[in-house]
Amino acid sequence: MGYGLLKGKRGIIFGALDENSIATFVAKKAIEEGAEIVLTNAPVAFRAGTINDLAKSLNVIAIPADATDVDDLENLFKKSVEILGGKIDFILHSIGMSVNIRKNRPYDDLNYEWMQKTFDISAISFHKMMQVALKLDALKEWGSIVALTYIAADRTFPFYGEMAEAKALLESFARSFGYQLGELRKVRVNTISQSPTMTKAGSAVKGFEEFCEYSHKMSPLGNADADSCADYCITLFSDLCRMVTMQNLYHDGGFSKMGMHPGIMSGELRII
Ligand SMILES: NC(=O)c1ccc[n+]([C@@H]2O[C@H](COP(=O)([O-])OP(=O)(O)OC[C@H]3O[C@@H](n4cnc5c(N)ncnc54)[C@H](O)[C@@H]3O)[C@@H](O)[C@H]2O)c1
Repeated sequence: MGYGLLKGKRGIIFGALDENSIATFVAKKAIEEGAEIVLTNAPVAFRAGTINDLAKSLNVIAIPADATDVDDLENLFKKSVEILGGKIDFILHSIGMSVNIRKNRPYDDLNYEWMQKTFDISAISFHKMMQVALKLDALKEWGSIVALTYIAADRTFPFYGEMAEAKALLESFARSFGYQLGELRKVRVNTISQSPTMTKAGSAVKGFEEFCEYSHKMSPLGNADADSCADYCITLFSDLCRMVTMQNLYHDGGFSKMGMHPGIMSGELRII
């Protein structure tokens, strides 16, 4: 049972690949809260993932769009406005992929073509979708746009490779476009910096399971899961957060504010 927080709002959710995707949790909760949504993902994800099943179960339309392709994005926004019957109130960017991580390339031996692809998919796509939406005049005033990020954007996490730089770029786009969209449309733009979460993208990172455990023990509240991340996204889409913009908001059980953990120092809390 929802609270009707998104009643009457129209949204586009990028990045629901399978049942573990953070975007899948957000899509389900957005519907529960009364929103009407369109799902989207890269054409390849329609073949590899379960997005069509999700769309069917939620009774919504899923439109294929490569988020790095401006023509695909134009088609997506035009069709979404048509299907949903009006301008878009909220957008979730839940997209990330590093070719170098997938191919196990170490940080001091990166392939630069793959790095460009990583930046395009994981960060520049965020700018592209906002630029397309603005040019098509598809954004409703006082709308809300959220992208998911990770703390490696501003602290060093050696296993995260070039995704650290991709996330730094993503967070910077949120601030810079947040200014533009605030001035032009009163639309807000924020990033949520989420705990490590067991998903397809997350588990591609080497040593991810061990790191999840480390992070869980370091955080006073433990790791935030995908379900609670979806709750946070919903509040940001709702009118309850209408004056919050250009922020990077930690959703990590307190991990980002920890310096050291006495239990880990004393050996009382063992990692693995
Ligand atoms: N899982 C974690 O530990 C974690 C932590 C912090 C932030 N995040 C971020 O959360 C977001 C969602 O990731 P997730 O963990 O749910 O994993 P996921 O693998 O379920 O989602 C990643 C999505 O990106 C999509 N994608 C890849 N290339 C695309 C393209 N060209 N066009 C459109 N979509 C494309 C994939 O199809 C997939 O749906 C990502 O930005 C990720 O970096 C994840």
